[in-house]
Order: sequence, then structure tokens, then C-alpha cells
Amino acid sequence: MTGTRTTAGPAAAPAAVSGERIDAHLARFAGLTEPGSGPGCTRLAYSPLERDAHAVFAAHMGALGLTVATDPAGNTVAELPGEPGVPAVGTGSHLDTVPRGGGYDGIVGVVAAMEVAEVAVRLRLPHRRPWRFVAFAAEEGARFGQACNGSRMAAGLTGAADLPGLTDREGRTMADAMAAVGLRPDLVDGARWRPEDWFAFVELHIEQGEVLASEGLDVGVVDVISGSTRLLVEVTGRATHSGGTPMHLRHDALVTAAHCVELGDRFARRPGNEGLRVTVGRLGVEPNSITTVPGAVEFSVDIRDVDPVRQRAAAKALAHDFAAAAGEHGTALTTRVLADTPPVVLPEWVAGHAEAACAAVGAAYRVLPSGASHDTQQVNHVVPAGMIFVPSDGGLSHVPEESTPTPQIATGVRALLETLRGLDRAER
Ligand code: GLV
Ligand code: MN
Ligand code: MN
Repeated sequence: MTGTRTTAGPAAAPAAVSGERIDAHLARFAGLTEPGSGPGCTRLAYSPLERDAHAVFAAHMGALGLTVATDPAGNTVAELPGEPGVPAVGTGSHLDTVPRGGGYDGIVGVVAAMEVAEVAVRLRLPHRRPWRFVAFAAEEGARFGQACNGSRMAAGLTGAADLPGLTDREGRTMADAMAAVGLRPDLVDGARWRPEDWFAFVELHIEQGEVLASEGLDVGVVDVISGSTRLLVEVTGRATHSGGTPMHLRHDALVTAAHCVELGDRFARRPGNEGLRVTVGRLGVEPNSITTVPGAVEFSVDIRDVDPVRQRAAAKALAHDFAAAAGEHGTALTTRVLADTPPVVLPEWVAGHAEAACAAVGAAYRVLPSGASHDTQQVNHVVPAGMIFVPSDGGLSHVPEESTPTPQIATGVRALLETLRGLDRAER
């Protein structure tokens, strides 16, 4: 890490981070949930509510005097200008949620960006680089299978040609969903970030695990982000009367699926597979009737690992084992790869700035890997990127109970602010 220029801001900058403002922003976003969707927050990728959340972000940044723009992929970017021609530093996260998710995953990182921008503007923090604040679109893979869609488009990893092939459960394509909320799926190739415009990007996020909370730490600095391979498995059996059909004449698609669920769970628990995670989180049964033997089942498999070789090998092995299980049960089975993202090792020099910032604000921290996927994983392809984690209460995430105490968020925001200030002064 080298610092070539000093733009010392007021020493009071971290102290100006306000827990009250953070709470107010979180409450505002928590109110944007699909009516009747049950507990927690449901604000799916490329839904009107996700756009409403982006509008809240844009209004806040606009009121601070930043320039705000939304790209064709739906990413909203606010900029505090810097010296002309100097590559930017940036921060941000996402505002969409999983069905019945919480109010913190992604949102905390966007709220952190809103608070950093407010402190920078209020204190007129000296800086030479443009500071960009980003709300990425459609990070959650829960709707379309593929995660980090807005950031993938910013990184050039997903393009206009891919969008008609990504569908939700209702069969709606991502292209249609985007157009329905006023975005331009045909123009997303123009949403690509230019590496020369960027110096570094740092995302603040909740940990979504229990490491920080269990060790009593304030902050995590991420070194590697897990990859994920997502499979869609379709089992076809024969639907028939549950009373009239003896056991030996059945082709029960759900029995096959249940066998596959157990195969996946056992596979990930095998000695030598420590760190691999296999989850069947979604399962649909046809006709889903008490008195009919299930004729068809569709289920998802989410395979996560920080080791790309083991991640892909697990996907292959499971597809093979599932086919064998279907054979045993007299059913037919197909496996399709819905999405595949490799793990990403984040650059050490960016993490070094985050570690120095933690020390500067007195945050107790450790370096740790991320089990979840993040927009940082994608934008790291075009801009050197890092992540700061704040603790998750009970390690819970993707559920309504997800939470992080405001003082812990505020500590993370202080560390983020100092990280950006360090990066503002630095050269590679
Ligand atoms: C994002 O939340 C993920 O599914 O990892
Ligand atoms: Mn997230
Ligand atoms: Mn998530």
C-alpha cells in the first residue's frame, strides 16, 4: 500500500457517522415490502418495489447535491465529483431481497453509502478522487437463479443476449421483467464500467454467518468470496391415485427428489468436503395434492465453495448421483445448470486499506472468507474490490429475523469511510 498525496480531512469524520440516520434509512427501506407477502421483507429483483427502493436512494443522494444516474441494467450510481481524470473510489450494495428476507442483507451496504455520502458532504471532506455510491440491481438469485445481475452487467459478465434466457418461476424472462419496470434490457451492454474510470470499490455487508458475533468482533475484512453453482432438477414420475396404486406400481417423483435432497446433504458432510455447502431450498410438487402420488417435482440445488474445482466437481457428481437415484425409483430426471459463478480472491492491497481503516477507527476485526455471493465478486473483474462485514445477530440471514445492532453498523460505516479516505489518497 503506498500513499502519495495527503488530503487529510477533519479528524472528526468517523465521529460524524450517525446511528439515528442509519436507523431512519433502514426503517424507510423496511417499509417497502410486497403487500401480503408475510413477515420480513419481500422486494424481489426487477420488481416495482425494488425500483421504489432505488428511488429512495436516488432522492437522498440528489438532495445531498450528488449527480445521480440509473443505467440500463437498473444500477443507480451517485457521484461526488473529484479532480478531472482521476479514477474513482466507490462503495455500495443492493436493495432487493429474497422472499421473506430481512431488512439488512445488501440494504446495510446501501445505507452505509448514503451515510458516507452525507458525512462527506456535511463535513466537506477533502478528496481528490470522484466518490461513487452504487445501489446495484437484482443481486439476489432467488428470482432468476443467477445472482448479482446488475453488477454482472456492470462487469460485462452478463449481456443483453443473455437476458431472454433467464426466467423466473412464472416463466417471465429477465428481459421482460426489466422492461416492465422501465429499464432497457436491450441496452445493458452500455452499462459496462470502464476499468480506467475506477481505482477501487469497497462494499459493506452483513456477514450472514456467525464468525464475528461468536468472536465478539466489530468488523470482518473479506479475503475470498465463495463461488456458487445452481442446478435446476426436474423429476418426472407418474401421477396417480394415492389409494388405488400399490407401492410396487409407483413412479413417485417426490420420493426420488427426497432421495436426492439427502444425497446432496450427505455429499457436503463427507470427510474431505468440509467447507462445501449444498442446499435444496426450493421444491415444487405436481399436482401437490394430498391424495395423488406426485407426478413431477422440480427442485433447486445451490452448491457453494471457496474452491472452484471442488465446487464444479460436486455439481457433476451430484447430477450423476441424482440420475442414479431416479433409475432406482423408476422416474426420469434432468439436471440443468442455472448459474455458475466461481469464487473470487479479493486483492490484498484493497483489504490492506480496510485493515488500516479498522485500526484507525479502533474496530476489532479479523480477516475472513464470505460464504455468500456479493456484487463485489462481479465488479472485482473491472475494479479492484474489497469487502467489510459487520456482524449478523445469531448468524441469521435471508430470514425476517436478520439483524445487526445499529452501533455495530455505525462502526462498520466508520471503517468504510476511513477505507475510502485511505484509498482516495493512495496510488497502486
Ligand atoms: C446472496 O445473498 C447469496 O445468495 O449469496
Ligand atoms: Mn447481499
Ligand atoms: Mn442475499
